Formats: sequence, structure tokens, C-alpha cells
Amino acid sequence: MSRRNITVRSLLEMKSAGEKICVLTSYDASFTRMIEAAGIEVILVGDSLGMVIQGQESTLPVTLEEMIYHTRNVARGRECALLVADMPFMSYRSPSLAMESAGRLMKEGGAHMVKLEGGAAQLEAIRQLASQGIPVCGHLGLLPQSVHKLGGYRVQGREQRDATLIREDARLLQEAGVDMLVLECVPNQLAAQITAELSIPVIGIGAGPDCDGQVLVLYDMIGLNPNPPRFVKNFLHSGRNIQEALQAYADAVRSGEFPTAEHSFK
Ligand code: KIV
Repeated sequence: MSRRNITVRSLLEMKSAGEKICVLTSYDASFTRMIEAAGIEVILVGDSLGMVIQGQESTLPVTLEEMIYHTRNVARGRECALLVADMPFMSYRSPSLAMESAGRLMKEGGAHMVKLEGGAAQLEAIRQLASQGIPVCGHLGLLPQSVHKLGGYRVQGREQRDATLIREDARLLQEAGVDMLVLECVPNQLAAQITAELSIPVIGIGAGPDCDGQVLVLYDMIGLNPNPPRFVKNFLHSGRNIQEALQAYADAVRSGEFPTAEHSFK
């Protein structure tokens, strides 16, 4: 069956129709072809590559050059999926730098959308990107680029004050022009509330079953992480090969079988 090209508009239509959006990270052309074969709508070249490809302790050392290199490789394997590339740490510390970095990820890497972490502090950069027709994905909740400030990879928004702040940031990001939002490691109820309040698609990772879609790190969901976080499910089991595991992930997201309470936070 031939697949349609996925655009910002098709993702909005999926949200309106209540169809779940499947997102997976990829860092090279070969995995990208397999992800395409599984019909996954969005491919994220995450700066998680610093940890899963480079073996770093965090995403902080990843450079813009490395992001462009991996995005270009993924773009060669891409067919229909929307290609999102992470803006690495310090590559969007001013609106003009954000424009420069996003421009390179799109022109040299072939990205269709760029992702950046943070709330109110990023509004000016987001406005400028949006004004130049650059699609942007926000990222709230657990912000891996702020791991040292947060004091570790921990659930965010459990306190009422923090939850209110994340909700307010989500609203501000949408107003500033983001086209999609990733919510990482927040309680189910908060994610459900934000998903209902926003008109843009909200993609969860450790954010419960009520988001508009789900994202996982590819290497986590095929069991390559010896210490996976609670929200990860290994789909490569029971004699499945990698292609079957990717398909099982897509099917489980679409049917709402993933994530369950076991992969979520209260
Ligand atoms: O870098 C990454 O892979 C991400 C996902 C975890 C959402 O940002």
C-alpha cells in the first residue's frame, strides 16, 4: 500500500480525527528505511544520539555538525515520514543563533521541523523561526539538556506549582507558533490536560496514554539499553525480528495498547 507524505497539516488532521501519531528516533539510513516500512509517521533525529550512539553520559556534548550529519543520513532513508531534528544544547541560546542552527539542519540535513527544549525562555526564538516558515516542535517536562539543573532524569510536574508552570509554558509555546509538542516524564493527568487544552499534536514519552501520539528512543524499544527507564517497553522479544518489533510498536501505539500504567507516572 502506498503511503502519503506526512506534513504538519496531516498531523493536525490526525489529532482532530483522534488517530494516534507514532514517532520514533532514528540516526541512520538503514533503520530509517525499516521505520518507514512500519508506517511510522514522524522520525526524530534526537540528540539522544549522544547517549545511544556515542556512549556519552548526557546529550550535552552533541554538536550541531553531528546533528546535521545524522539528519542527512536519515534523510537518505526517508520516504514519507516527517523528519524532525533536535537542536543541540547551546545551538539556540539566542534567537539569531536559533535561526542559523535551524537553517543548517534544514538546508544541509534535510530536516522538515526542528525541536528545542524549554518554555518561556524560548518564546522569542520560536516566534522568529515560525515567522520564517520553519516548523518547530517544543519539548517540556523532563528536559534532558537541563539535566544538571534538574538534578537528574526525574519525573516533572508532580507538585501543583510545577504542573501549573508546565501547563502555562505549553500554552505559551503554542501561541508563539510551535507546531507540535513533546511532553517527557510527566504524570498522566497533567499530560491528558495539556493534550486536551492544545490544538497542536502532543507527543508523549513517559507521559501516559492520553497524548495524541507516542515517541520512544529506537535503541530503547529494541532492548539495547541495559537500564531502560520505566516508560520504555522492549518490543523485540518472543522471536520477533527488528522489522516485526517496529511494526508491533506502531500497532500498539495506534490501538492504545502502549503505554499502559506500567510505563506511566501518577
Ligand atoms: O533526543 C531524543 O531522542 C528526544 C526524545 C526522547 C523525545 O528528545
